[in-house]
Amino acid sequence: MKPTTDPRLAPNESPKTYRVKSFGCQMNVYDGERMGELLDEKGLTPAPEGEDADLVVLNTCHIREKAAEKIYSDIGRLTKGKTQKKAPMIAVAGCVAQAEGEEIMARAPAVSMVVGPQAYHRLPDMLDKAVRGERATDTDMPAIAKFGALPARKRRSPTAFLTVQEGCDKFCTYCVVPYTRGAEISRPFNDLIGEARKLIEAGAREITLLGQNVNAWAGEDDVGRPVGLAGLIRAIAKLDGVERIRYTTSHPNDMEDDLIAAHGEVDQLMPYLHLPVQSGNDRVLKAMNRAHTAESYLRLLERFREARPDIALSGDFIVGFPGETEAEFEDTLSLVDEVRYSQAFSFKYSPRPGTPAATMDNQLPREVMDDRLQRLQERLNRDQRAFNDALVGKTCDILVERKGKLPGQWLGKAPWLTSVWFAQEGGDTVEIGDIVSLKLVDAGPNSIEGRLI
Ligand code: SAH
Ligand code: SF4
Ligand code: F3S
Repeated sequence: MKPTTDPRLAPNESPKTYRVKSFGCQMNVYDGERMGELLDEKGLTPAPEGEDADLVVLNTCHIREKAAEKIYSDIGRLTKGKTQKKAPMIAVAGCVAQAEGEEIMARAPAVSMVVGPQAYHRLPDMLDKAVRGERATDTDMPAIAKFGALPARKRRSPTAFLTVQEGCDKFCTYCVVPYTRGAEISRPFNDLIGEARKLIEAGAREITLLGQNVNAWAGEDDVGRPVGLAGLIRAIAKLDGVERIRYTTSHPNDMEDDLIAAHGEVDQLMPYLHLPVQSGNDRVLKAMNRAHTAESYLRLLERFREARPDIALSGDFIVGFPGETEAEFEDTLSLVDEVRYSQAFSFKYSPRPGTPAATMDNQLPREVMDDRLQRLQERLNRDQRAFNDALVGKTCDILVERKGKLPGQWLGKAPWLTSVWFAQEGGDTVEIGDIVSLKLVDAGPNSIEGRLI
């Protein structure tokens, strides 16, 4: 993939503007913001919307085949003038960079830099090299070192992500994350409180704590007592100016009692839990190496509902895992019927290179997966719609996140993470970051309409 348009930069010219395009999970979004902050510090500025950037960072995801292959078409579009008029300098970051760094360098000469998710604090040095014409790859995993080398937070937004835990030791047999992100690590308590303070100073009213297994976070508080995620949440809730706290993604096997209790005790902790289950069948769960059963998962959700009766539940599902029978798939449908999720994410199994499931017998044909996904999604959509319908007539607070497409229209989130929109009337003044009280008047499949009261 050699550039076929004129390059934006002359040889040895430093880029002045940049754009970071993040794909995949929220942790990638967080990393994308942090790379932006590094580039800001280096004197670059974000390219204005719709204008060419001198440097484009593709922050990639390796979780499923489709996501991973996308990077080659994105590079092609950038170099052929389809995304912007002139070909930019290109950096590939994220989980595809980690998994396939060498291959990218060989296959795409237009790429100047390949940098993994644990090494991007070194991006500024790599950029100096790239300007001198030296292509550079860095897929080291120094993990915690990265955070210490990043500049202070300054992004202005009412909602902010804060990565507290990284990596995964669970090795579910289908998943690449333990290989692309490395072993589980927890960032130290005081660093996190410091970063949360900075985010609040910059205008954040809602903080979402992130981790591949966020509830595996463990540390010592400011007086040296061992604490888990619930302790961290309770400490962040005490900071002035935090209105809302969320966390994602949790694993059923790392759930501590105190986190469940916190849902009934910490006002700012929102009534929402994303807890992936993947399958409702115990044989499949075992083959996936999930180390929980459908029953233990359901009992866990019951305890959350006891602590916080209005809690909205969300999950992840994989259909068509190798060897999954029709009857085993139907166990997943039954589990969905029992839980009644407010929203959920469902995927066709995608064999990933290097994972044990990719070489298991009995990989299922595409048609079977398509059919199962469609049947699962019908039920999940039904339940999401029912959840939204049940909110109509209620009053709730929403955090205003941005303007809608129509004049006077605003968008935000209800406590249950449901998207809500409302129209500003006559004398009302509304600003991004406000928490407004709304009466919910009409529900759609994906959002709810509210009226200011
Ligand atoms: N750590 C989180 C989620 C990580 S990836 C957890 O364990 O819950 C997000 C979701 O992608 C997973 O929950 C799973 O549903 C899906 N996923 C991961 N690997 C996949 C694969 N090989 N094929 C299809 N879906 C996959
Ligand atoms: Fe992947 Fe399983 Fe780890 Fe989640 S818990 S990141 S699905 S290996
Ligand atoms: Fe994708 Fe990596 Fe996140 S593979 S889902 S970007 S951890």
